[in-house]
Amino acid sequence: MRTKIKNLTPACIDTTVTVKGWVRSVRSQKEFSFIAVNDGSTFHGLQLVFQATHATYDETLPKLTTGTSISATGTLIKSMGKGQQFELAVNSITVIGLCDAEIYPLQKKQHSFEFLRDIGHLRARTNTIGAVARARNALSFATHTFFQERGFLYLHTPIITASDCEGAGQMFQVTTLPLNQVPKTPQNHVDFSQDFFGKPAFLTVSGQLNGEAYACALSDIYTFGPTFRAENSNTSRHLAEFWMIEPEMAFADLHDNMALAESYLKHCLSYLLNHCPDDMKFFNEFIEKGVISKLEHVIRTPFEQLPYTDAVEILQKAPKKFQYPVSWGIDLQSEHERYLAEEYFKKPVILINYPAEIKAFYMRMNDDEKTVAAMDVLVPSVGEIIGGAQREDRLDVLERRMMAMNLKPEEYWWYLELRKFGSVPHAGFGLGLERLVLFATGMENIRDVIPFPRSPKHADF
Ligand code: 4AD
Ligand code: MG
Repeated sequence: MRTKIKNLTPACIDTTVTVKGWVRSVRSQKEFSFIAVNDGSTFHGLQLVFQATHATYDETLPKLTTGTSISATGTLIKSMGKGQQFELAVNSITVIGLCDAEIYPLQKKQHSFEFLRDIGHLRARTNTIGAVARARNALSFATHTFFQERGFLYLHTPIITASDCEGAGQMFQVTTLPLNQVPKTPQNHVDFSQDFFGKPAFLTVSGQLNGEAYACALSDIYTFGPTFRAENSNTSRHLAEFWMIEPEMAFADLHDNMALAESYLKHCLSYLLNHCPDDMKFFNEFIEKGVISKLEHVIRTPFEQLPYTDAVEILQKAPKKFQYPVSWGIDLQSEHERYLAEEYFKKPVILINYPAEIKAFYMRMNDDEKTVAAMDVLVPSVGEIIGGAQREDRLDVLERRMMAMNLKPEEYWWYLELRKFGSVPHAGFGLGLERLVLFATGMENIRDVIPFPRSPKHADF
């Protein structure tokens, strides 16, 4: 039976075990060869010691090039060498799949992340991308434990939708109409009555509106699924397809929302530090020096809470010259968000009460009639990691707001009915999983923290 390398413990010493994995490297000496094999279950692989006196040595060794898949059986022994606890004294090695070293794109040397993006099907075999995949998995699992332990219901919201949640017109259209012969109405408009859904349909930018409907029945829910944005931003923080976690709480206000966001982030980071120590040690040494103490600091420190208006004042007084000048009413740019979190407060900051004009229609109007009960959580090096709000629960105010923003209330009729029938104060937020992985690992480009990134002009693999 095969044992995953992660599950080899001191209790396995002096027993016979079989491991399966891919060869990372071979170091041959006169009397034996060291073969590093990795099966992805843990950062560190296992070192095999293959004696030159072995009957199959001369025949097998030439086949054991980087990338070859093998099965190896032997006795697990304490390692004399530095860097590993155990090694495997080989009794037998079977080659499962050969790997031609002449054409295999991954070599023992370091490759750039740009190069690795072009071999998306193989890059998970590298130290960094493997570690990122395990960190992403841990953060996803931590998300479920956090919300489940607090009695939130995991809700599956639709991926195809007819409503634009953010009202920002960044949606990908879903259609079965023939693009080379689009049916037209007598007025020469596209005849969507002939389309699959009988009307225009899109990939969702957020599950929030549907989430609100269930929160306004089951009290606390969260979604965790793919979301899509056709924004043409080619940055290291944006993807066209990303995974969003969206909790929504009934009978809750902005303060409950801030408290939830802060404890959720802290829970995820603690879980990662406790469950992926080897991967974190690697990030700490090779990806972002000091990332572990950065996360420990975030876990220990209360987040700063600050109204947008105060943030604008701080930015205007900053000794730093920004590319985009700051005045009340602007949508903060990444450089502003990062200045606040990284340089001014040196910890995560929750900005609240943004100008209504720059925020989505569903956010609750404050008594000043100028700002809404929005909140963005900003963290060092990434900027915005969470966006959320207390929702507008007053029917008349919401309708007025939609019209002011050129949205048609009748298209959101069911959303408005939630305000007609037993409306309650409620609040929630969205966290982009990839932004969390970036922050937690210290990786720089969002395309390297999702298995197969989708961005403008890139939908490979
Ligand atoms: O701030 P956003 O647009 O908020 C919403 O979608 C709300 N409906 C959430 C809610 O209240 N339920 O997006 C939320 C988060 C951002 O803070 C960011 O972390 C991430 O989603 N995000 C992206 N991540 C990667 N690529 C993109 N293009 C992203 N756009 C948003
Ligand atoms: Mg936002």
